[in-house]
Amino acid sequence: MSLASIDPTKTSAWKALQKHLDNIKDTHLTTFFKENKNRANELSIKWNDFFVDYSKNRIDATTKKLLLQLAEETKLKEAINLYFSGAPINQTEKRAVLHTALRTPANKTIHVDGKNITQEIKKVKSQIKEFTEAIISGKNTGYSGKAFTDIVNIGIGGSDLGPHMITEALAFYQNHLTSHFISNVDGDHVQQTLKKLNPETTLFVVVSKTFSTQETLTNAQTCKEWFLQKSSTEDISHHFVAVSCNTENTTSFGINQHYIFPMWDWVGGRFSLWSSAGLSISLSIGYHHFNALLEGAFEMDTHFKESPFDENIPVILALISIWYNNFFKAETEAIIPYSQYLHKLPAYLQQAFMESNGKSIDRDGNPISYQTGSIIWGATGTNAQHAFFQLIHQGTKLIPTEFIAFKESLFQEEKHQDKLIANFFAQTEALMNGKSTEEVSSELNTTTLPEEQIAKLIPYKIFKGNKPSTSILINKLTPKSIGALVSLYEHRIFAQGIIWNIYSYDQWGVELGKQLAIRIEQEINTKTVNKHDQSTTNLLTEYIN
Ligand code: F6P
Repeated sequence: MSLASIDPTKTSAWKALQKHLDNIKDTHLTTFFKENKNRANELSIKWNDFFVDYSKNRIDATTKKLLLQLAEETKLKEAINLYFSGAPINQTEKRAVLHTALRTPANKTIHVDGKNITQEIKKVKSQIKEFTEAIISGKNTGYSGKAFTDIVNIGIGGSDLGPHMITEALAFYQNHLTSHFISNVDGDHVQQTLKKLNPETTLFVVVSKTFSTQETLTNAQTCKEWFLQKSSTEDISHHFVAVSCNTENTTSFGINQHYIFPMWDWVGGRFSLWSSAGLSISLSIGYHHFNALLEGAFEMDTHFKESPFDENIPVILALISIWYNNFFKAETEAIIPYSQYLHKLPAYLQQAFMESNGKSIDRDGNPISYQTGSIIWGATGTNAQHAFFQLIHQGTKLIPTEFIAFKESLFQEEKHQDKLIANFFAQTEALMNGKSTEEVSSELNTTTLPEEQIAKLIPYKIFKGNKPSTSILINKLTPKSIGALVSLYEHRIFAQGIIWNIYSYDQWGVELGKQLAIRIEQEINTKTVNKHDQSTTNLLTEYIN
């Protein structure tokens, strides 16, 4: 069974939404609240330890009804069933999309090409558990007999962003091992990282699904050369492990076959942190916490699969996103976690959203006539408030903003926590309410400024408000809640891709640059400039000479 191909703009819901937009596009958010005393309750979802308030969005009951109808008309429910069942919904690569299987309990069955994969997953999880315990306990040591102290994850894209983001997010749960991440093929960064390390006590985890990625292989090679300055070739097998589908290339790199952690082609790179690609996470926080991360994700999977759409967090957030992207023509969405632990979440989500849904050909192979993947960006609050919030509040662009925070401080730092959360709530309130002429002038009238100056200042101090936001409030930052949060975004991305009628699980767009880079590198090595456009020729000449 394959995904249906339905042009969303041809559905009756889309046409009705277009008309409906004219009715509500000028309505101020504050008016929606005045008109409906129960709005905040109606437009919020409580699920496990999540509270999602989407009432500060420019929608009303009709918008919600029509968006839900859009999901129905584009056959989202049917697509969800195909997704979880292991159907090859990554049709351009003829693959299933089953990162969800990695967090499904082993007693369930999921078939890929007629084979139950849950038993295979169980085996690999035991391998991760055993290895994690051997490293953390000091049972496995480095070549000189000393216990490992440092883990270096070498990978890029999904082989870096997921493990890195989660390791930082769960730093509170981290054990004695220090984690490092090398991704960019920037030799300075590699050397800067190695400078702090002792080869005797460093374990390298080389993560590459294909084991052919230029950056990862170059970085791994440099690390190997550094390592061999103090050790011998036989020691490589104790200090380098690999996560990959490509056993041939890993073995020729010198990795012991017992330390090759398999991946499967039904796990996309940007959704791979739940697989062996999460080995660095497991090493950093211990297998039991890694497993809790998977459990949290599984709970969200179940919520997504089974909840009616009007109470389904990923579906509702996907629909709101489409509402702004396709009807309000918003170009970007900001994601602002009010937790420093989540400082890498925006970068992680950029890959997840933009590599998945940055597509312009529909599922019938035709160019698309509407907007798809929105641009995701963000940073942690309150830092972001002091950096770019000015533009969100008073700029000319509409930027739907998502706020994420935890009710509890992990260190019970109540004083800080209250201030942090107060800032979050204050921003959403300010974005919505703005500040009227009356408010601004009565505030200025309490000052000693001359009347003439007050009159000049007023327009600059007015905030129109009506800036939408969604708030996600979670009880506590735990492996489980982070698992659920990431899974929420994965499903939201899926739902958006389905409605936009695109394929979300390939990434052909990144290939062209990779191919050209290989050709240009050869030209640099041989100091010959082949045929390029004028600008690239000049750049190359400037660099070579
Ligand atoms: O940039 C494209 C990409 O294929 C990502 O999707 C992937 O996460 C990354 O490269 C790394 O690929 P690999 O794990 O094969 O090294």
